[in-house]
Amino acid sequence: MLTVHTVAELRGHIQRWRTAGGNIALVPTMGNLHAGHIRLVEHAHEQAERVVVSVFVNPLQFSPDEDFKSYPRTLEADRIQLVAAGADLLFAPPVEEMYPGEEQCVTRVEVPGLSSILDGEFRPGHFAGVATVVLKLFNMVQPDVAVFGQKDYQQLAVIRRLIRDLCVPVNIIGIATVRENDGLAMSSRNQYLTPSERAAAPLLYRTLGEVVQAMEHGRRDFQRLEAEALRKLRMAGMRPDYVTVRVAQTLAAPTADDRHFAVLAAAWLGKARLIDNIEVRIAAQADA
Ligand code: PAF
Repeated sequence: MLTVHTVAELRGHIQRWRTAGGNIALVPTMGNLHAGHIRLVEHAHEQAERVVVSVFVNPLQFSPDEDFKSYPRTLEADRIQLVAAGADLLFAPPVEEMYPGEEQCVTRVEVPGLSSILDGEFRPGHFAGVATVVLKLFNMVQPDVAVFGQKDYQQLAVIRRLIRDLCVPVNIIGIATVRENDGLAMSSRNQYLTPSERAAAPLLYRTLGEVVQAMEHGRRDFQRLEAEALRKLRMAGMRPDYVTVRVAQTLAAPTADDRHFAVLAAAWLGKARLIDNIEVRIAAQADA
């Protein structure tokens, strides 16, 4: 596996591969790789001859009070996992390579609407940071396919909208969340949990599952379902930012006629902010 740190080196290898023919897949990550990321790499392999994985902790998507400085950086361990997963190239640029000059002056890409709801409400500027770095990576790698995890459901919706609006010729693929045995969605931030918080954390996914089950039994009183879920999380010591039922993909508020939903949540547990979601299609006969 090649490891490169500059855009010039990256472009050299991409050009060589393009001349030889064959598709290229990109898996953008912030590193500290776990089985969820490796699943993305494996899927990328099924889509393309060459797989590029980027590891870059993107300062633009963190607000000043967030964990940019302490975010786990484990490049050597990531490299070893990527060799085992058969990635062709690891692109690990330093911040100055991605954002030369003053960070405040970097051109930003905005996806309005989708970026200011849910996580965007609690993390202002986050999705502009994500959209900007993802578009930069697309311009650098020019992949045919890019693979993302569905755990970051809203991020995936923002990226799909971005490539649609700006006519970026990349096929976006979302991959189902990889979970621990007790249901907790895998995330680099799970390591911020103490042992007792880790034991409590699967409640988030269980609670989303209960909302889905209630909908499958015909309930459409979304606000009450959300309030019940919030109460359950709070009683267990979590500090939820939101639990919400939305229309799948668009994240619009649902009506009684909708059938395809995403139930999403974000909650603090100690120092970790956990996010999770379940996408569900409800058959018409499930209505009460
Ligand atoms: O999902 C992530 O790890 C990041 O938000 C991404 C897509 C790599 C952009 O920095």
